Amino acid sequence: MRVLLLGSGGREHAMAWKMSQSSILEELFIAPGNAGTKQIGKNVELSADNFEEVKKFVLNNRIDSVVVGPEGPLVNGIADFFESDNDLSGVSLVGPNKEAAQLEGSKDFAKKFMKRHNIPTAKYGTFTKETISKGYDFLDTMKSPYVLKADGLAAGKGVLILDNLKEAKKELKSMLSDAKFGDASSRVVIEEFLDGVELSCFIITDGDGYKKLPEAKDYKRIGEGDTGLNTGGMGAISPVPFANPTFLDKIDNQIIIPTVKGLRKEGIKYKGFIFFGIINVRNEPYVIEYNCRMGDPESEVVFPRLKSDILDLIEGVGTNTLSERDVVFDERSAATVMMVSEGYPAAYSKGKQVYGLNTVADTIVFHAGTTSDGPVVTTSGGRVLAATSMGKDLPTALKKSYEAVGKIEFDGAYYRKDIGQDVL
Ligand code: AMP
Ligand code: GLY
Repeated sequence: MRVLLLGSGGREHAMAWKMSQSSILEELFIAPGNAGTKQIGKNVELSADNFEEVKKFVLNNRIDSVVVGPEGPLVNGIADFFESDNDLSGVSLVGPNKEAAQLEGSKDFAKKFMKRHNIPTAKYGTFTKETISKGYDFLDTMKSPYVLKADGLAAGKGVLILDNLKEAKKELKSMLSDAKFGDASSRVVIEEFLDGVELSCFIITDGDGYKKLPEAKDYKRIGEGDTGLNTGGMGAISPVPFANPTFLDKIDNQIIIPTVKGLRKEGIKYKGFIFFGIINVRNEPYVIEYNCRMGDPESEVVFPRLKSDILDLIEGVGTNTLSERDVVFDERSAATVMMVSEGYPAAYSKGKQVYGLNTVADTIVFHAGTTSDGPVVTTSGGRVLAATSMGKDLPTALKKSYEAVGKIEFDGAYYRKDIGQDVL
């Protein structure tokens, strides 16, 4: 199989690493990739948002499968573009079309979908500039803390959680009337606050059948003890200790199965990954959000635990035969620790040389924000490297990852020292 993988983060390095082990891989291209993907495939300068450019590359390089990492091109319709182009009829694209990607692209769409299919989620209301006074009234009926969500994609920054009613009303106005998040906040979802512990669950589906991937827990805040600003994710573990078989069964029966059936019933053909952001409230699962892609840094622990050939699954999505494929997980634990640039998630420094990558053994160092020139690797993003280890249990995996992180250096490097500690 000749594969083009779109994206440049740790998620894509983890996917590329897994693809590179496949017995059916012929050639792997990553666009644009990073210094890590460059070691296992060919990085190509392509913008995933320029569909014509992607098409040209796909045809010139006889690509069989395009796998889309991030949500942007999916929400913008790359799957629809491939679907409607006759020249691309022989190429399979793994990722939902524009309508299906609304599960992530519009919080209001996702909430309505969950309501139609009785999928447990927080109570909510959706408001626009025209209905802002109804929004204020709705806030009056809610209890603190208040959760406000920009309807559209806002680079992970569109969710505000506020303690005070006055402040919540002020922010609602700023989102709706002053376009705080641009077009993304022309509609705002106001939600009941759910108090619990979060986890991430994943499936891959061809629109008919689906396969579950291992679940994971992500650490979103910059500071230890889950404090400070939200980030893309500072580390992850898999499996998740509190996700026992009873709880996972509830997720299957109340969330995953109704979602897949609901999509099918509504004639929404979903091909690709679905990420269920779930919160455990007194042992009951609720959906916090859907994403139309894999998680990052969850991918850095999920794919190392996948024993099956990922391209066999990708082929299954392309040929609508996913139900016939096998998915086997590694029973061991995986942990990843993210090293980030000084200043992240606010303005951060870049272009720092990374030292010590060759001194690490028994840990996979996935690159998230790096570039390279010959053997010299330099930082190019906020999240720089994710050190993933496997172990017979979580403490063993964590210990190995922290040992590896201790050997890697770049100016201003920061990482959380408490990944996994809350669930041990
Ligand atoms: P989202 O972009 O929807 O995942 O929201 C970002 C983060 O805000 C989530 O990962 C949660 O930690 C938090 N969050 C979102 N919605 C709620 C809610 N209804 N109750 C409590 N926390 C929430
Ligand atoms: N780690 C959370 C996300 O990928 O959205």
